[in-house]
Amino acid sequence: MHDFHYHDNQLYCENVSLEEIAHKVGTPCYIYSHKTLVRHIRAFDQAFNAIPHTIAYAMKANSNIAILRLMAQEGSGADIVSGGELFRALEAGVPSQKIVFAGVGKSGDEIEQALKADILMFNVESAGELQLIHEVAGNMGVRARVALRINPDIDPKTHPYISTGLKKSKFGIGAERALEEFKTASELTHIEVVGVHCHIGSQLTELTPFTDALKKILALIETLKVQGINIRYLNIGGGLGITYSDEVPPHPKDLAAAISPLLQDLKCQLIMEPGRSIVGNAGVMMTRVLYNKDTEAKRFVVVDAAMNDLLRPSLYEAYHDIQHVRKPSSSRLKTVDIVGPICESGDFLAKERAVPETVSGDLLAVMSAGAYGFTMASNYNSRPRVPEVLIQDHEIHVIRTRETYADLIRGETIPAFLKKSTS
Ligand code: LLP
Repeated sequence: MHDFHYHDNQLYCENVSLEEIAHKVGTPCYIYSHKTLVRHIRAFDQAFNAIPHTIAYAMKANSNIAILRLMAQEGSGADIVSGGELFRALEAGVPSQKIVFAGVGKSGDEIEQALKADILMFNVESAGELQLIHEVAGNMGVRARVALRINPDIDPKTHPYISTGLKKSKFGIGAERALEEFKTASELTHIEVVGVHCHIGSQLTELTPFTDALKKILALIETLKVQGINIRYLNIGGGLGITYSDEVPPHPKDLAAAISPLLQDLKCQLIMEPGRSIVGNAGVMMTRVLYNKDTEAKRFVVVDAAMNDLLRPSLYEAYHDIQHVRKPSSSRLKTVDIVGPICESGDFLAKERAVPETVSGDLLAVMSAGAYGFTMASNYNSRPRVPEVLIQDHEIHVIRTRETYADLIRGETIPAFLKKSTS
């Protein structure tokens, strides 16, 4: 699971108390455990050791360059979705030959940037994109390796905002059009068709959607073979869920056991793009209680972190467990809303949650915040983004410092016609 645990009623990450971290970098902040990250990426890798595979860590889950470097050191590549992510991955030392590029809206500039870097392949999401890649590659005098992303029309049984493999979703190419698109792609001189890609959604807690999608993809690979199109890479995307409250998601070993029999006769390199299952439970966000505000309707616990720091509860009504950093002496529970300072009613970290009573100054840890936490943070309400620390045994490594007010206005200018001073 993870390496956040109580010792003498104090919450620790590995061998550092969260109180010490608060003292060093202040609150709010994100805290990641090195040990958990390493264990998770290795568990994934080992689960598939009988199958030739590449892990392309989905860096949208957490793209801090220290985390990326760690993943690269563990042999992982990266699943990217923008030129910015490509820049980060290369800065962190991720080998370009392990980078795959997904996303429905790649621009010409981003395509050129990726071709220059000689990434492993593009996961192409539409006919228009295929043509643009062909054109850009032609102008550069190179051939672009591509996989087509197939939308298998499978219900991943997860939150609608994070389902991607249903017919009505914007992602991938419909299974019924796949053959046509593959034929077109294979005839383009500046395109080399190397793979099939599929990613059906995130936070999946069952295996059947994975195997159902895979069966459809394998049938397509067979059909392509008959047509003389040989697929060398099969990319099954990411999506394995984690425990936020009482979910019991499959372990990577279970996923491997479920799909291995289907892959027996396949001569393909398997690519996987796990994100959340690697980093989700390896991180927490720490916040401090500012006030208990009692109204006629309920108690609000106002904390110093807000929806701009961790958007998931507001956007998906996502559940994140909340723990006291110092275990309270009384176990009396009070049902409260835990809310932030932002001027929006949707700014909450927990609603109607029974927690031990808080007092001003208490530190709280919002658990399972390592994935889609910091990466979805913003500066809304002109709040500087918070620091990130990586804990390694007894050591606190600051891997991102807290933004300053000056950072908030970097890049903004007042045009000359407005320069007259105000009074
Ligand atoms: N591959 C592709 C093409 C993806 O779009 C994604 C996630 C992944 C891999 C990684 O999926 P994972 O293993 O992390 O489930 N912000 C949402 C999650 C959005 C996921 C987007 N795509 C959240 O906070 O739950």
